[in-house]
Amino acid sequence: MCGIVGYIGNQDSKEILIKGLEKLEYRGYDSAGIAVANANGVHVFKEKGRIADLRKIVDEDMLARIGIGHTRWATHGVPSTLNAHPHQSASERLTLVHNGVIENYEQLKEEYLEGVALKSETDTEVIVQLIEIFLNDGLSIEEAFRKTLKAVKGSYAFALLDAETPDTIFVAKNKSPLLIGLGDGFNVVASDAMAMLQVTNQYVELMDKEMVIVKRDEVIIQTIDGDVMNRKPFTAELDASDIEKGTYPHYMLKEIDEQPLVIRKIVEEYRNENGVLSIDEEILAAMNEADRIYIIAAGTSYHAGLVGKQFIEKMAKIAVEVHISSEFGYNTPLLSERPLFVFISQSGETADSRAVLVKVKELGYKALTITNVPGSTLSREADYTLLLHAGPEIAVASTKAYTAQLAVLAILAEVTAVSRGFKPEMDLSKELGIIANAMEVLCDEKDEFESIAREFLTVTRNCFFIGRGIDFYVGLEGALKLKEISYIQAEGFAGGELKHGTIALIEEGTPVIALATQESVNLSIRGNVKEVVARGAYPCIISMKGLDMNGDSFVLPEVHELLTPLISVVPLQLISYYAALHRGCDVDKPRNLAKSVTVE
Ligand code: F6R
Repeated sequence: MCGIVGYIGNQDSKEILIKGLEKLEYRGYDSAGIAVANANGVHVFKEKGRIADLRKIVDEDMLARIGIGHTRWATHGVPSTLNAHPHQSASERLTLVHNGVIENYEQLKEEYLEGVALKSETDTEVIVQLIEIFLNDGLSIEEAFRKTLKAVKGSYAFALLDAETPDTIFVAKNKSPLLIGLGDGFNVVASDAMAMLQVTNQYVELMDKEMVIVKRDEVIIQTIDGDVMNRKPFTAELDASDIEKGTYPHYMLKEIDEQPLVIRKIVEEYRNENGVLSIDEEILAAMNEADRIYIIAAGTSYHAGLVGKQFIEKMAKIAVEVHISSEFGYNTPLLSERPLFVFISQSGETADSRAVLVKVKELGYKALTITNVPGSTLSREADYTLLLHAGPEIAVASTKAYTAQLAVLAILAEVTAVSRGFKPEMDLSKELGIIANAMEVLCDEKDEFESIAREFLTVTRNCFFIGRGIDFYVGLEGALKLKEISYIQAEGFAGGELKHGTIALIEEGTPVIALATQESVNLSIRGNVKEVVARGAYPCIISMKGLDMNGDSFVLPEVHELLTPLISVVPLQLISYYAALHRGCDVDKPRNLAKSVTVE
């Protein structure tokens, strides 16, 4: 994971780099560092912890018009100041930041670095030392960098400073995301456009195995073999206000509140000029050609995939399998004759999902990516893309992207169904409008969810979520939300599965959150609640209007039964948020996590 930035221009680079890193903190926050250069040489500042900790140690008075920066999610080596980037070569001529994982760093170390004393446990330090070894062999900095890139196996986005070439940042990319931002009299480097939106909205995409020479007035993109590539910049269509918290205490709360707006925006974006929901013809053709759809995703996006399977199978009547991307590589199922792969990924950068995409493309199959980030790796490399239009999601815990994924999957299912001649299950535009209104009602009930969180989750060490059918999948998402931000051990179970083992964990006072939104299983899930209550559990039932009973903790507004996950998840998001808040956790940046998981 990790995020990197670079700046070369007329202004002092320190503040631009640090502000950029603040925007990239979602990519990791174990440690952070910058290296800046001026006539007195290269100066490195790095610190374990957050960007705020880095800020405290940076020499504010120093002026430096070129620099690179890094925020880290630890892979090789514990989070510590020593392992923080930037890393320097033995002579301190070279300074490097890196996002990615070098798979063959042990071999490179053995082959080339005998006798070199490494200061850190990182794979990155091996690389900066290796470039210096090649320099010492008489190569130019460009040649030494290129030779290193050819020797390296794995993923990387590198930004390199050479004290003897103080007018250049050397950059390279393979598998990890990286953009070059263009400005008037300056240029920047960033893992994503948000980081440098403060100075430019013009960006050039880099392809894998490209190397770039970035100067104040010039950017030269080359292949790893030195062929120069010409590429037009694109305008990053991001609104700076989208990436600010405004008056909200946390991004997560802001993003939960944005959900009604996002659903309305999706309906607008997917309506054609006649006001009818529509999808690109090519995507529809691919859906119709497929004899089976394989949804590939991780975490929250996987949970969205489980609900999406219900939508596609019920509406479009195409068989769907849902797979966890990190498992797919070695647990590859027997594929059907005409599979279509659908990748669901908020970031579009998840390395586990990308590994599957690379594999299925090699096998010659078609792939569709559903993502929030236009131009992301998964979007670029798939045949087709459907965008979520949710706006940047900054909080590590995904909320609005999940409901956006459900809305887009519902539209995909419905439009495919119509193209296959099936009677529409519902007037989806209208039903999504009802969903947006219901979400608004729920967002106005924050006090209710805060008191549920206080009552059920302040002191507990664990919590169970149960549901049947589609509610079970929402329960899985509820449990993930709660555990990742509050550190309460939380698990989601199918109501009927409890008695096959898990009920053994129920003891006096164990909170059990049950969802009851489906008429066909309403009585059975309530039966499951009775079973756990009989064993001392403390139940919180969230039901749908019309199915509610005495004693339910919260009753959801009525929406179309198939679309209930879009609203039943909202209370779970808010309960998790308040549980984490009451327990004093860092809601937006939970420990050990990062927003964009770019390592396998
Ligand atoms: C949890 C969460 C993660 C992501 C997962 C996949 O709140 O956000 O579980 O869903 O890391 O990320 P994307 O969707 O970017 O592929």
